[in-house]
Amino acid sequence: MSGLTTHPGQDVLTPHSHAALDVANLFWWMMGVSFGGLALVVGMLVWSRVRRGSALSERATWLVVVGMGVVFPLVVVTALFVVSDALIINVTDAPASSSTALTIRAVGHDWFWEFRYPGTAADTADEMHMPVDTPVNLVATTDDVIHSFWVPELNRKIDTIPGQSNRIELYADRVGVYRGQCAEFCGVQHAHMSMLVVVQTKAAFARWLQHEAAPAVASPDAQGASVFLEAGCASCHAIRGTNATGYFGPDLTHVGSRKWLAGLVLPNTPSDLARWIASPQQIKPGNEMPDLPLAHAQLHALVSYLESLK
Ligand code: CUA
Repeated sequence: MSGLTTHPGQDVLTPHSHAALDVANLFWWMMGVSFGGLALVVGMLVWSRVRRGSALSERATWLVVVGMGVVFPLVVVTALFVVSDALIINVTDAPASSSTALTIRAVGHDWFWEFRYPGTAADTADEMHMPVDTPVNLVATTDDVIHSFWVPELNRKIDTIPGQSNRIELYADRVGVYRGQCAEFCGVQHAHMSMLVVVQTKAAFARWLQHEAAPAVASPDAQGASVFLEAGCASCHAIRGTNATGYFGPDLTHVGSRKWLAGLVLPNTPSDLARWIASPQQIKPGNEMPDLPLAHAQLHALVSYLESLK
């Protein structure tokens, strides 16, 4: 991750793609027109105060009420609707998937994001990688309830609906780390369902994908590996290349190389990982991971094993 921006952005008004620029421009247009309307209303209030006592003719009153109260708002609101629908929603719609160079599947879970790279075995969580200057066909689905995939600096939101796949194009004009967030209330830990989108040069991304698709590196920590298999971790988590093939929780094949854990709730340090394994229900109440009673030595071995899975 060296050389990448260290402060991930999650700012709708700092666009890094054509689509995000359109969304930001729409915001400024809406804002400008709204302030224009507000100025007009305040102006008329002031005017009525200044001209108090001098009555308008009946015809002038009618013109003001119908013109400013009906015709003007109708025209403005219709114009804004047409602009946002025709120019923004259509433009930010996903293009034909054949026109994009790469497909990535984002799967919403209570409460983390899983990322798969069709055609490879790569399966990761919390951290999505993609190449710079490359249109990516992002297919969003869910494993449980409705979530919404949103990386504000790259494009608008796309909901994940049970039994359905929704698509959006993700594109980034700059290498860096962007922050994303689930944007649809999905349960008590909805606010803790964030992700990072790591945009890399094409060569760095190709290396990352090749590594991510490969099975786990052989770990010298045999004790930690057997704790993982025997304490119950393996019934929910997979570590490709081992006997652990669970699928309820995140795939942990290369968990040691991730920056964050648990939907960006904790940085991936040995002490935070140990805290997380020891008491996930205190750190993120309601999540699917049970508190596992482990002896100190077991926990220590487990953490060093997982952190070695780079
Ligand atoms: Cu997932 Cu909100």
